[in-house]
Amino acid sequence: MDNNNNKYPSSSIEDPPTGKKKPTTILLIPCLLLTTSMLLIYLSQNKIILISTTTSSGSDHTSGLRDDSCLGRYIYIHNLPSRFNKDILQDCESISRPKDKTSMCKYIENYGLGPQIGDGVSTDSRYSPSWYATNQFMLEVIFHEKMKRYECLTRNSSLASGIYVPYYAGLDLRRNMQWSYNISERDASGKEMFKWLKKQPQWKGMSGKDHFLVTGRISRDFRRYSKNNSRWGTNLMLLPESQNLTFLTIERSPISHNEFAIPYPTYFHPTSAVEIHQWQEKIKFTNRTVLFSFIGAQRPSRNYKGLVRTQVIQQCKNSSNTCRFLDCDVKANTCDDPITLMKLLESSVFCLQPPGDSLTRRSVFDSILAGCIPVFFSQGSAYKQYIWHIPNNSSEYSVYIPFKELKNEGKNKIEEILLGIPNEKVVGMRENVIRLVPKIVYTKPNRYKPVGETLEDAFEIAVKGVVKRIEDIRREIQD
Ligand SMILES: *[C@@H]1O[C@H](CO)[C@@H](O)[C@H](O)[C@H]1NC(C)=O
Ligand SMILES: *[C@@H]1O[C@H](CO)[C@@H](O)[C@H](O)[C@H]1NC(C)=O
Ligand SMILES: *[C@@H]1O[C@H](CO)[C@@H](O)[C@H](O)[C@H]1NC(C)=O
Ligand SMILES: *[C@@H]1O[C@H](CO)[C@@H](O)[C@H](O)[C@H]1NC(C)=O
Ligand SMILES: *[C@@H]1O[C@H](CO)[C@@H](O)[C@H](O)[C@H]1NC(C)=O
Ligand SMILES: *[C@@H]1O[C@H](CO)[C@@H](O)[C@H](O)[C@H]1NC(C)=O
Ligand SMILES: *[C@@H]1O[C@H](CO)[C@@H](O)[C@H](O)[C@H]1NC(C)=O
Ligand SMILES: *[C@@H]1O[C@H](CO)[C@@H](O)[C@H](O)[C@H]1NC(C)=O
Repeated sequence: MDNNNNKYPSSSIEDPPTGKKKPTTILLIPCLLLTTSMLLIYLSQNKIILISTTTSSGSDHTSGLRDDSCLGRYIYIHNLPSRFNKDILQDCESISRPKDKTSMCKYIENYGLGPQIGDGVSTDSRYSPSWYATNQFMLEVIFHEKMKRYECLTRNSSLASGIYVPYYAGLDLRRNMQWSYNISERDASGKEMFKWLKKQPQWKGMSGKDHFLVTGRISRDFRRYSKNNSRWGTNLMLLPESQNLTFLTIERSPISHNEFAIPYPTYFHPTSAVEIHQWQEKIKFTNRTVLFSFIGAQRPSRNYKGLVRTQVIQQCKNSSNTCRFLDCDVKANTCDDPITLMKLLESSVFCLQPPGDSLTRRSVFDSILAGCIPVFFSQGSAYKQYIWHIPNNSSEYSVYIPFKELKNEGKNKIEEILLGIPNEKVVGMRENVIRLVPKIVYTKPNRYKPVGETLEDAFEIAVKGVVKRIEDIRREIQD
């Protein structure tokens, strides 16, 4: 067995980025000479800088020299026992699909971004070097890797605006489903994780209400009410402790008060704003020869979701040569190939996003990335999910066709509706879609901010959102 520790980059939690800001240091040298134990507040470039000169062991960047742009944004990362994160990755062979033994291991490479696409082996140089074959369930790893390099980490939790719990709940679930169909065994690690968490001094302050956890699987997977061993999922989100936490997840439960949906990872993980702008320019002018397309597979028509899919597939197949259907039942390998998928999305004006096993799809974000206007059939597929990342004026960047409208009338209702949208409206919608690109990509985990313009990516918007929510809770508690 290949027990290769290099599969996964070593942790840098113990080694947070140190305070930066060279100009500040230079400005302060004279002050430091004047006094050795006072607190200075210095105003420079619209930032307040706090300097305590009574220091310092040096290693903790939250004492000593500090740029106040981090104040109100500090995050403390819990140093969980490795069995709750790293060890699960080491055990990646046991979370692989049986037909493809190594698949999950390869997706863990590169901070969870997966294998690079533009590695010289693949043909399409357009995808080099910031394109990766990212697996849709890897967000908990990607988020952790990005958080380790977040610019406002603190090792003093009492300074933190939020406390991050880097438990890989989705991968753990997948692994435990593999070996145990006994629910009490399957649910055990979530319970143990909370047992550990509650022993930490950080829990006491707000009973966990300043803690947050990110899952790379949909919320429903952690809300198994049934005690029947053959039912899918764990009860993680039903545990009493979970009621106090905030969860960030790729699909939230519509009835939950403490879950927030954040984008699925796409294949694009740029390192700079320039790279994002170049991509946006490219997809603005790409040749879209297909009016609408659908990439996906049939689902059993037992319920509303299956019925929508069936309709969508039938109408696509039966369009007057305006729709392309990439059938993932027939062409499973093609549907695993990011370049083929992206090319189809890039050559389509509209991309159909019917629900599948659940209401949301990773494809929603791939199509935004491709500049393809998404067509939704459920309010729960995006509008009621990604409220931090996607604006509420949904008709400006997407088309919504309610199920009723889809079914009751003419045979090719979708085609009819899409053909009816005037061209200038389509162009405007596409521009709005393309504007969303920076907000839905997860840039490559990077310790140093790139020089030049910085854009808020999906991670930064998520951190901002969760910090604000915890701030609101804190205020409520104090009132
Ligand atoms: C952590 O921060 C608090 C609040 O500023 C401070 O009182 C405490 O001394 C700090 N602890 C350490 C170990 O630096
Ligand atoms: C499930 O596992 C637990 C703990 O190992 C055990 O006590 C219980 O009997 C098992 N239940 C079944 C149905 O096998
Ligand atoms: C458990 O679920 C399975 C499949 O859904 C079902 O066949 C079985 O009867 C259930 N068992 C019990 C005890 O409810
Ligand atoms: C959750 O928070 C409440 C206070 O709002 C507290 O009473 C309760 O004990 C906490 N739950 C857990 C499991 O710590
Ligand atoms: C786009 O496609 C049309 C028709 O196939 C073709 O005439 C045109 O040259 C293409 N434009 C670009 C930029 O590839
Ligand atoms: C496709 O369209 C043709 C002609 O409009 C119609 O006869 C046929 O029933 C349609 N098929 C499906 C599956 O809707
Ligand atoms: C839609 O909302 C976004 C974000 O609030 C805003 O930037 C954009 O201008 C709005 N679009 C229109 C057409 O109002
Ligand atoms: C949409 O968001 C804007 C601010 O971003 C807000 O002013 C407006 O009321 C919202 N509209 C709806 C329908 O929620």
